[in-house]
Amino acid sequence: MGILNRALLIAAVPILATIGKQIVFYQDDATVLTKCADQRYSTEILSVDPLIIHIDNFVNEQEIDYLMHVGEPLFRASQLFDDTQVRSVDTPYRSSSTAFMPYNDPVCHCVGQRALKFLGFIEHGEYETLQLVRYYPGQEYNLHSDWLHRPKLSRSPRDEGKEYNRLGSFFTYLGGNATGGETYFPFVNGATLNADGRKYAIPASGQGLVVKPTKGSALFWMNLHASNGTGDERTLHAGLPVHSGVKYGMNVWTKHYKSSPIIGPYESREDQPDDLNQEILSERGVLSDLAKSLKHDSE
Ligand SMILES: *[C@@H]1O[C@H](CO)[C@@H](O)[C@H](O)[C@H]1NC(C)=O
Ligand SMILES: *[C@@H]1O[C@H](CO)[C@@H](O)[C@H](O)[C@H]1NC(C)=O
Repeated sequence: MGILNRALLIAAVPILATIGKQIVFYQDDATVLTKCADQRYSTEILSVDPLIIHIDNFVNEQEIDYLMHVGEPLFRASQLFDDTQVRSVDTPYRSSSTAFMPYNDPVCHCVGQRALKFLGFIEHGEYETLQLVRYYPGQEYNLHSDWLHRPKLSRSPRDEGKEYNRLGSFFTYLGGNATGGETYFPFVNGATLNADGRKYAIPASGQGLVVKPTKGSALFWMNLHASNGTGDERTLHAGLPVHSGVKYGMNVWTKHYKSSPIIGPYESREDQPDDLNQEILSERGVLSDLAKSLKHDSE
C-alpha cells in the first residue's frame, strides 16, 4: 500500500465511523477492503435512442455527506477541453467549480463500481476519477458533450496508456438547495405531460428533455454510438443556470477503450471470481440443435 493510500485510509476511517453503519471499511494487510452499501436504486427509461435512464437513489445520504466532506476543500474553477485536449477556464461558457476526488477514496470506489455494474453487458473498462461540481446562482455549463472529440490517453495507474473515450455518463445530483440548474438535452424527446413534475420539466419551446436535480438520483446516458464508438451528437446537453441556492453534482464517467467492442464479447471480469464464471456450452452442439429447431419451426 502506497503512502497516499495509507493517508487516505487514515483520513477516511474517522469520518466514516461517525456517519453510520451502512458503509464499513476495514484494513487487511496490504489492501483496503471496502464493503459498499447495498443497492437500493430504482430506474426509469427516459429515452431508448440515445439511451437515457433516470436512477433514483443512486447514492445514499451517508455517501453524499461523505463525498461533500471530502470534496469541499478541493473545489477549483472548472475547466474545458478543446478538440486538441488543451484545458482552459472559460467563465461565460462554464462557470462552475470542480473537485477532483482522491484517486483511492473508498466511497468513490463504491460509486465507481456501482456504475460499472450498472453497465452490465455493455463494455466497461474503468471509470475516470470522480469529479464533484458546484454551481452558485447564475452559474451554468453551456451546451457540450461529455464524449471527447478524440480518444484520450489514460494517465491513471489502473489503465495507463490506454486510449479511451467516455462511454457512459452518470451525472449524480448530490443536493444543495438550488432552484434552476436543470440538465437540458435539446435533441432528445422531452417528458410527457404526465411525467413526475418533481423530476422533469417541459420547456416553453416544447423541445428537449429537462431533468431537475433531485438529491441522490443520477441521470445515466450513453455517449457513444454502440455500432462504431463515435460520439452521439444527440447527447449534447447543458447545465442550466442556477437561480438561487447552490447545486452540487458529481460526474461519474466510464471508459470505452478504442480497441474493444462496445457490446461484448468479454474476457472474464474482475468482479466475478473464476469459479462463478458461466459454463461455456459446446457451441457446435448448441448451434446444430438451434438450426434443427429453426428449420422445424419454419416448415
Ligand atoms: C456511427 O454510427 C452512427 C449510428 O449508427 C452513425 O449515425 C454515424 O454516422 C456513424 N459514424 C461513423 C464515423 O461511422
Ligand atoms: C443554500 O445553502 C447554502 C449553504 O450550502 C447557504 O449559504 C445559502 O444561503 C442557501 N440558499 C438558499 C436560497 O436557501
